[in-house]
Amino acid sequence: MRIAHGVQNVNYRRALNIEDLRQLARRRLPRVAYEFLDGGTEDDVTLRENRAAFGRFRFQPRVLVDVSKRSQKVTLWDQNFNLPFGIAPTGAAGLYCFEADIALARAAAAAGVPFVLSTASFVPLERVLREAGGTQWFQLYMSKDRALAERLVTRARDAGFEALVVTTDIPVAAAREYNRRNNFEVPFRLNLANMVDGALHPGWLLNVFLRTLLDSGVPRFQNLDVNVGGRIISKSLTEFRTRRDALNWSDIRWLREIWPRRLLVKGILTVEDAQCAADSGADGIFVSNHGGRQLDGAPSPLEVLPQIVNAMGQRLAIMVDGGFRRGSDIVKALALGADMVFLGRAPLYGAAAGGEEGVLHALNLLRSEVDRVMALIGCPTVDGLGPEYLRLETGRSPHARDAAERADAAFWDGF
Ligand SMILES: Cc1cc2nc3c(=O)[nH]c(=O)nc-3n(C[C@H](O)[C@H](O)[C@H](O)COP(=O)(O)O)c2cc1C
Repeated sequence: MRIAHGVQNVNYRRALNIEDLRQLARRRLPRVAYEFLDGGTEDDVTLRENRAAFGRFRFQPRVLVDVSKRSQKVTLWDQNFNLPFGIAPTGAAGLYCFEADIALARAAAAAGVPFVLSTASFVPLERVLREAGGTQWFQLYMSKDRALAERLVTRARDAGFEALVVTTDIPVAAAREYNRRNNFEVPFRLNLANMVDGALHPGWLLNVFLRTLLDSGVPRFQNLDVNVGGRIISKSLTEFRTRRDALNWSDIRWLREIWPRRLLVKGILTVEDAQCAADSGADGIFVSNHGGRQLDGAPSPLEVLPQIVNAMGQRLAIMVDGGFRRGSDIVKALALGADMVFLGRAPLYGAAAGGEEGVLHALNLLRSEVDRVMALIGCPTVDGLGPEYLRLETGRSPHARDAAERADAAFWDGF
């Protein structure tokens, strides 16, 4: 019998939406783990903007459309997925439930959606792929040291990952002040404050932290372990990503040469960079601001999505992530032309609340919300979604074709 990963706490079943799961996660996790999961950077301007952007759209629903045969199936390249959303890469996910990387991947496989494994997973990449199956993509935190980068890329290729997602929005570390206040570090280090906090969250301490400690040692990024004469040395991400501030598009072109499968560039927020990604041989991009965790003041992905789709939608598959918490958010991004939506925090709230089953619960909540919205706006298939189902809060439609209206709403250029 297959044992579900993570806590067997059934409270998550009562969660009616992602926000309920978030509240459960807040209660279960010590501060150091919860703030790392939930926080943004600096003043959280971008974090808030990611959510606020959805509020600027209203639906333009059509009625008396036969929506009795609804489907959320999408085809990306040559592959079919059950739902138009997947799980984004999240490092240190093992802080939220035991072997969360496997729990997330298994839930994604069960739901029939893609899962992106972070370089910064606590479980080695080969094991995640082997034990969870499904469609898995590998997210690369790249080092300017090509020998280091190539070693990881080769491992991901040999293990059988179907796509490589290169994250580009981290030339330097973000100012996540809560991490400094909480002394957050990986490899995880216990200090007095963390120990007291852990003791106040005994479920987490036993089921997540101590279980991980007994099973595989101090929680750490196992993909970065180096074997030096039989001794395992754990590298921190900072050590691994040497001179990541020197990376440029030639490194993507080099990756294109050594990586034989789909290549995606994550962290794109401008048409110009989407163009560079296509010119460098990428198959797709993630329009993303890293969930508001890197550059505070970056625009929300939803705001820049229409221009990027308009300019590059024919050449690149366009994924989007950042702030998605409701099915209606997902439908809005699809209507604006995204090929697929990805979720970072939402599945992690599920993992913290209920392990693998909690992640699946999060995905199911979103699936039923998307289904309801599609019925209510009168669009039974994802392919049928387009900007004509949306209007701006101001009353303008992003679909406007009228010249004056378009000039007025240059922001929505192209729709
Ligand atoms: C706890 C956490 C860890 C993350 N780790 C990574 C990572 O290792 N690599 C990466 O490319 N993005 C990482 N991200 C960013 C996500 O892939 C994604 O862009 C973002 O979470 C989307 O926003 P959302 O959380 O509002 O859905 C992380 C996000 C969170 C919340």
